[in-house]
Amino acid sequence: MTDLAKLESETLAAIAAADTLDALETVRIAALGKQGSVSALLKTLGAMSPEERQEKGPLINGLREAVSSAISQKKAALEAALLNARLATERLDMSLPAPETPQGSVHPVSQVMDELAEIFADMGFAVATGPEIEDDWHNFTALNIPETHPARAMHDTFYFPDGKLLRTHTSPVQIRTMMNEEPPIRIIAPGRVYRSDSDATHTPMFHQIEGLVIDKGIHLGHLKWTLETFLKGFFERDDVVLRLRPSYFPFTEPSVEVDVGYSEINGKRVIGGSEKWMEVLGSGMVHPRVIANCGLDPEIWQGFAFGTGVDRLAMLKYGMDDLRAFFDGDLRWLRHYGFSALDVPTLSGGVGA
Ligand code: DAH
Repeated sequence: MTDLAKLESETLAAIAAADTLDALETVRIAALGKQGSVSALLKTLGAMSPEERQEKGPLINGLREAVSSAISQKKAALEAALLNARLATERLDMSLPAPETPQGSVHPVSQVMDELAEIFADMGFAVATGPEIEDDWHNFTALNIPETHPARAMHDTFYFPDGKLLRTHTSPVQIRTMMNEEPPIRIIAPGRVYRSDSDATHTPMFHQIEGLVIDKGIHLGHLKWTLETFLKGFFERDDVVLRLRPSYFPFTEPSVEVDVGYSEINGKRVIGGSEKWMEVLGSGMVHPRVIANCGLDPEIWQGFAFGTGVDRLAMLKYGMDDLRAFFDGDLRWLRHYGFSALDVPTLSGGVGA
């Protein structure tokens, strides 16, 4: 065997035997490094006669090629083995058994919002949303609540240092909708609202639903029919009786508060009849100034609006008595009052299935 063939077979054997990237690197340096055996051979080419170089050149270069390609192949193989070993240690066992029965449940607030969306969809209302971080103009000014208005103080607003605020009601969605859409408008806007207030019937975050209709020739009769249809559908009773009382909201004129009749049976409030009254909604005809603030002509467009607390509606319908429990995340409460994710409210199947 020539020296060259011997060096080649020894180096290839060393490459094959290298079982780590470090060991391979050592072999590479020994062969192709500055002081390496193959590099030393390459250096001898300079001192050779042209004839000798013509004979040995291709052999030495061939050796270098063979060694360097064997090193690259081995390197790729070692790297792939390393990656496979790492993937093997990171393997996740996804085969944990599923629980016998589904564990999660739909929170009563989500359930009631779904029920409301279903009831109002049947009357042609779309669902609208707006940001929870609002600006002063959408939350107050555009709703005809100027800076000096006492209603601002009543809202116990959470302000940010930059003057923005957490919306205190869903009414700013009225403004955003009127500014972005062409009438006729029929929307409901369910969502979170915030006020700095906390006791058995108040939490700093709670849920409201807003309703808005803007069209031509809208009057109080439309409002009353809509609310009656909604409350009958929601409480799933035909004997729901409404009482409209004159009231005041800056963004409606005239304003009405809506009571529903109920009776007390075994200490629980049961909706229906007209024995006792309980307030459930604020509403009214949208103030012409609010319509004009949104760039619409109040001589052409009229409408009504209403707003109410979703949590309170849920408490009334499903007989819960402490609002704070809604947000405690207590699994026992959720299992008791939660709804099956598969029981989707429908008008035909019953909204509060
Ligand atoms: N935004 C009122 C509140 O938070 C509720 C309300 C009253 C909304 C009357 C309305 C309305 O749209 O017409 O107390």
